[in-house]
Amino acid sequence: MTIAKAHQIVVIGSIWGIKNIFHSLVAILTTLLVITTIYLTQDRGEKLSQKVNVSIDSLSSSKCDLFSGKWVFDNETYPLYKENQCSFLSDQLACEKYGRKDLSYQNWRWKPHQCDLPRFNATALLERLRNKRLVFVGDSLNRGQWVSMVCLVDSIIPSSLKSMQSIANGSLNIFKIKEYNATIENYWSPLLVESNSDDPVNHRVPERTVRIKSIEKHARYWTDADYIVFNTYLWWRRPLMNVLWGSFGDPNGVYKRVEMLRVYEMAMRTWSDWLEVHVNRNNTHLFFVSMSPTHERYTHISKGQVHHISLF
Ligand SMILES: *[C@@H]1O[C@H](CO)[C@@H](O)[C@H](O)[C@H]1NC(C)=O
Ligand SMILES: *[C@@H]1O[C@H](CO)[C@@H](O)[C@H](O)[C@H]1NC(C)=O
Ligand SMILES: *[C@@H]1O[C@H](CO)[C@@H](O)[C@H](O)[C@H]1NC(C)=O
Ligand SMILES: *[C@@H]1O[C@H](CO)[C@@H](O)[C@H](O)[C@H]1NC(C)=O
Ligand SMILES: *[C@@H]1O[C@H](CO)[C@@H](O)[C@H](O)[C@H]1NC(C)=O
Ligand SMILES: *[C@@H]1O[C@H](CO)[C@@H](O)[C@H](O)[C@H]1NC(C)=O
Repeated sequence: MTIAKAHQIVVIGSIWGIKNIFHSLVAILTTLLVITTIYLTQDRGEKLSQKVNVSIDSLSSSKCDLFSGKWVFDNETYPLYKENQCSFLSDQLACEKYGRKDLSYQNWRWKPHQCDLPRFNATALLERLRNKRLVFVGDSLNRGQWVSMVCLVDSIIPSSLKSMQSIANGSLNIFKIKEYNATIENYWSPLLVESNSDDPVNHRVPERTVRIKSIEKHARYWTDADYIVFNTYLWWRRPLMNVLWGSFGDPNGVYKRVEMLRVYEMAMRTWSDWLEVHVNRNNTHLFFVSMSPTHERYTHISKGQVHHISLF
């Protein structure tokens, strides 16, 4: 068993905790380089990063660089929520419930060198989200970020004023805060474009196939959201992938095995083309989480029962 180390990602001044196992540093660095390259060589990528700069500037009155800082151990104001106080935490993520003893990973706080981030304030977040949709799109890592965000606001909302709904065969999960007419949602599409791993439950397919030109089946669920946080990385860790031009099940579809980095690049192009054409950036804020730590399943047997705990 590997114990996860604490790590976090900072986006728009709020912090979502993720635990971190750096397995293959080389692979991660390569991916980062590729994504950065894809981003910087495209006009649209530059427009996206400009949008991010604008949001960060408008949030921080001082000239504090939020991305330059360090992790500090804080057992006084952290953790931001207790596992047993969150009614929506799935068993898969409930480490404490299933006996994890080392919980200090919950105490790491991001501290920019030049300033202190304000402590997370659920009311302030909900006021910003009034009449808005915040959607996390991607793989299990982003699903974990979504659950964390739900847990961060859950405790301040009376149970009669919130609901959880699942649509699109479970691909879209919607946490609704009625008083604010706000939603915090999660859309499952681990490769962003269509693939044979799109079933939100049964997606452990050894041979991975991506429909490289197709994203609309997923995108129609998130295109109009106000804030979209994308991620995709873990599902690409294959040397080769099957690429499909055409539809699943269509005898005229063309399949080809292609080296992963090339497929990744094609998928990012399909994704960014969709954003370019369909998303109105005056209304929608876009974020992209590139490389990410992986997460592990820890199997633990107590009183004759087998428990699986995802460590992330
Ligand atoms: C966004 O901020 C980064 C880091 O401060 C800077 O390097 C980049 O030039 C900025 N982009 C734009 C479009 O202003
Ligand atoms: C926080 O951690 C420090 C050092 O590990 C310890 O001395 C202190 O008692 C802890 N405080 C709380 C509130 O747990
Ligand atoms: C949280 O935000 C709300 C709304 O902006 C504000 O009224 C409240 O004072 C804040 N709470 C703390 C502890 O800062
Ligand atoms: C509730 O929020 C949605 C967007 O999530 C918006 O389209 C709708 O107009 C809002 N309803 C009201 C009554 O403001
Ligand atoms: C849900 O799954 C069924 C069976 O696989 C399929 O026929 C249907 O089109 C799916 N619905 C959506 C909204 O994806
Ligand atoms: C976005 O805002 C700018 C400046 O207000 C405006 O010129 C432009 O037409 C808007 N774009 C869309 C797609 O609404």
